[in-house]
Amino acid sequence: MSIARGEGLTPVPQPVLAPLTTAAIFLVVCVKPDRESYAAVRSLCADLPGIFRAVDFRRIEGGLSCVAGFGSDAWDKLFGKPRPAELHPFREIRSGERHAVSTPADVLFHIRAKRMDMCFELVAQIMERIQGAVSAVDETHGFRYFDDRDLIGFVDGTENPRGEAALVAEEDSQFAGGSYVIVQKYLHDMRGWNALSTEEQERIIGRKKLSDIELSDAVKPSSAHNALTTLVENGKEVKILRDNMPFGKAGHGEFGTYFIGYSRSPRTIEQMLENMFIGRPPGCHRKPIFRAIGDFS
Ligand code: HEM
Repeated sequence: MSIARGEGLTPVPQPVLAPLTTAAIFLVVCVKPDRESYAAVRSLCADLPGIFRAVDFRRIEGGLSCVAGFGSDAWDKLFGKPRPAELHPFREIRSGERHAVSTPADVLFHIRAKRMDMCFELVAQIMERIQGAVSAVDETHGFRYFDDRDLIGFVDGTENPRGEAALVAEEDSQFAGGSYVIVQKYLHDMRGWNALSTEEQERIIGRKKLSDIELSDAVKPSSAHNALTTLVENGKEVKILRDNMPFGKAGHGEFGTYFIGYSRSPRTIEQMLENMFIGRPPGCHRKPIFRAIGDFS
């Protein structure tokens, strides 16, 4: 959401729309359940712009940005009222063996830069302030892979909206310029994926692998990823902003995609997830190429 710079001042929206970068750290923490810990996190929020400027200025061309997102329960304890109209805990999705889990998370820091050292330094400075007040639930270091591809080899991010489609607007004017964020971690079964022909993979994603051109409606299955995640309301496409990053440990056989989606309403991402996990129509699944390992909302 947006950060107020002081009593009576207009809140400044966070840099949700910052450009895609070559490095990112996704840090998820839970706040310890006592008054002092919540006070420490609140105080960090007030000082975050100053901490950010100190790290940013060390490499001004490094394109550093930081977005802080707050879980529904944490919001109440940290800030109380007013609260964003549609903020709620992530509701898990189950369908057969598929399970989009809901895991506890109070604060998400989405830190992006052209250089990992800048992301790392900002996380270190943030934790310096709040390490006694929080426990880190997950910290994932993402990297940009050839031609903005994910580890399954497809260009990821092409259809991102260029403008402000992912920002709250007049429907919740106190939080205008903010955004809802949902994150998930996916591990890929690379052996299974690589056993498919390129043409099969293209039908699963809905785009050509090398050229990134979208498949025509005549050949694209209704279960293709980009078909299931295309939502149309009142004749208009409803877009979300994604900044997915590959992550993993090749030496340990771990190949992952960290999904991060910003949207004007959480309902949009939830609907896309229902289409992916349950199918549209229900039962019409994409092949089980992606294995969800956890998500935070
Ligand atoms: C393993 C995780 C995922 C991978 C590897 C992945 C990969 C891709 C790729 C390669 C594309 C096509 C290029 C593009 O337009 O960016 C795409 C499109 C898209 N994905 Fe994903 N995706 C993942 C998860 C998700 C999830 C969880 C959502 C939403 C809940 C989502 C929403 C979308 C949307 C909205 C599009 C654009 C559809 C269009 O307008 O054509 N993706 N994704």
